[in-house]
Amino acid sequence: MKAIEIRNKYLNYFKKKGHSVIPSAPLIPENDPSVLFTTAGMQPLVPYLLGQKHPEGTRLTNYQKCVRTNDIEEVGDNRHLTYFEMLGNWSLGDYFKEESIPMSYEFLTKELGISPEKISVTCFAGDKDCPRDTVSAEAWKKVGIPEERIYFYGKDNNWWIAGEEGPCGPDTEMFYDTGKPACSDKCDPSCDCGKYVEIWNNVFMEYFKDKDGYRKLEKKNVDTGLGLERMAMLLQGKETPFDTELFKPIMDKLEELQKQDYIESRRVVAEHLRSSMMIISDGGRPSNLDRGYVLRRLIRRMIRHLNKLQIELTYLPTLIDINVENLKEMYPELEKNKEIIKNVMIEEKEKFVKTLTNGEREFEKEIKRMQEKGTTKIAGEVVFKLYDTYGFPPEVTKELAIEHGYTVDLKEFDELFKKHQEKSKQGSEQKFKGGLADQNEKTIAYHTATHLLNAALKQVIGKDAHQRGSNITVDRMRFDFNCDHKLTDEEKKKIEDLVNEWIKQGLPVTKQEMKKEEAIKSGAECMFIEKYPDIVTVYSIGEVSKELCGGPHVSNTKELGTFKIKKEESSSSGIRRIKAILI
Ligand code: ALA
Repeated sequence: MKAIEIRNKYLNYFKKKGHSVIPSAPLIPENDPSVLFTTAGMQPLVPYLLGQKHPEGTRLTNYQKCVRTNDIEEVGDNRHLTYFEMLGNWSLGDYFKEESIPMSYEFLTKELGISPEKISVTCFAGDKDCPRDTVSAEAWKKVGIPEERIYFYGKDNNWWIAGEEGPCGPDTEMFYDTGKPACSDKCDPSCDCGKYVEIWNNVFMEYFKDKDGYRKLEKKNVDTGLGLERMAMLLQGKETPFDTELFKPIMDKLEELQKQDYIESRRVVAEHLRSSMMIISDGGRPSNLDRGYVLRRLIRRMIRHLNKLQIELTYLPTLIDINVENLKEMYPELEKNKEIIKNVMIEEKEKFVKTLTNGEREFEKEIKRMQEKGTTKIAGEVVFKLYDTYGFPPEVTKELAIEHGYTVDLKEFDELFKKHQEKSKQGSEQKFKGGLADQNEKTIAYHTATHLLNAALKQVIGKDAHQRGSNITVDRMRFDFNCDHKLTDEEKKKIEDLVNEWIKQGLPVTKQEMKKEEAIKSGAECMFIEKYPDIVTVYSIGEVSKELCGGPHVSNTKELGTFKIKKEESSSSGIRRIKAILI
């Protein structure tokens, strides 16, 4: 069964079971600078899991585009993917374990035709925070899973939370037995040998964790996630996702073009190409910071492996074309954004080629210094400097060193690198944590100020000035909009004055749910119409602003303080950027 058929079957099945199909949120979370990428279907739904009413009801389903990059160095083996699609269904205080489990079972066995004997399940064993999940185990028995295929594990395996804080709970996971021989007497679904493959995770989100520990949420929710690529691989009897139709055309092309044969490199290229195309299509751009840096690493790693395969980099547009052709039915946005994807990739490729050239120059200098000193081992510190300052990858340093008859102290490099990683990991964790918990007073206020700024721009610049991007932290807001000129001081002052005038007026912020078409007809502002479900939430601020938006917002503009523009600059061609603060 092809991946797209699995996706359609999934959405139709849950639709039949009373779920509303909601669109995939973009990979780059809107109005949430603190999360790098959308990593699970539940992430855009956090406010609703915490109790806010969802306009589409209490039963939801979708396919969600996801990027997880903690395993980036492992891509190239036969299962890790940085981009994947997650199929999910949610109960927001509606059904719970007894109903969720039979639905999953029915979908797997009846809709996908998986033989019941191939399914094993795991449940939460219980601990001081939460009792043993006998309810799930009983529900599994009831649908026909024998006791010997029901396993119990602790929080390490059967508890799910995104990051450190947020909604969470025990989960029950479904595993597919590939039929491979058990690796030992102890082989079970917690084993990594490849016999058992996890296919679906149903999280029973009735807890919230923060630094003080666990507390019960108001409602009992269900959050599930099924990895599409993996399911396609299993149903097609393939060994890896790279053997499915999702990757086959690109893998074949790489094989045709390569002058050196490395299966791992072909996989890295195929995977990173798809992943970076999806990120760019959703608005990501390479940079040295956060998500831009992740994208940069993906593209650069891909280029390194193209080099390793000895494939000319001029083939990049051809490879992009092949992926667009192959994936456009699943992701029509790829076709729409094809030219942007190509331009961004090519620009980044050129930068990297320059980096490699500069790095090589530095490397040569280093070799000279070493010759003078009479040493033949390149210090880890040097490898790290080449990496950190010139972006020169350590494996390239190593290859060059070997060519020159030198060795490298990779052990010292690894230590330095680990230290560096620890630091950035702490940074990312901090961010992830922030992302889910960060709907604090400050960011909420900035969010409302964003709507006011959007409205003010329309009055001062013209009604065709629209939001093109937004980024909020606790310290400031950043707002991109289309405009063909640098704002004059007078324009900036007018905008500031208008926003402050509206703040002073103490305008009420109100929320209304309505059909998408009605909202648009009524003149509500909206950035990406196709991203919204049929029923939308519209936030109005007095008479001055009306926008499609998920919220949250302050209830009255007088909570905002004073609005001040700190900077106005170009963001990209035809797009201006305003940085502003509330004091
Ligand atoms: N949120 C759950 C997961 O990502 C379903 O596994």
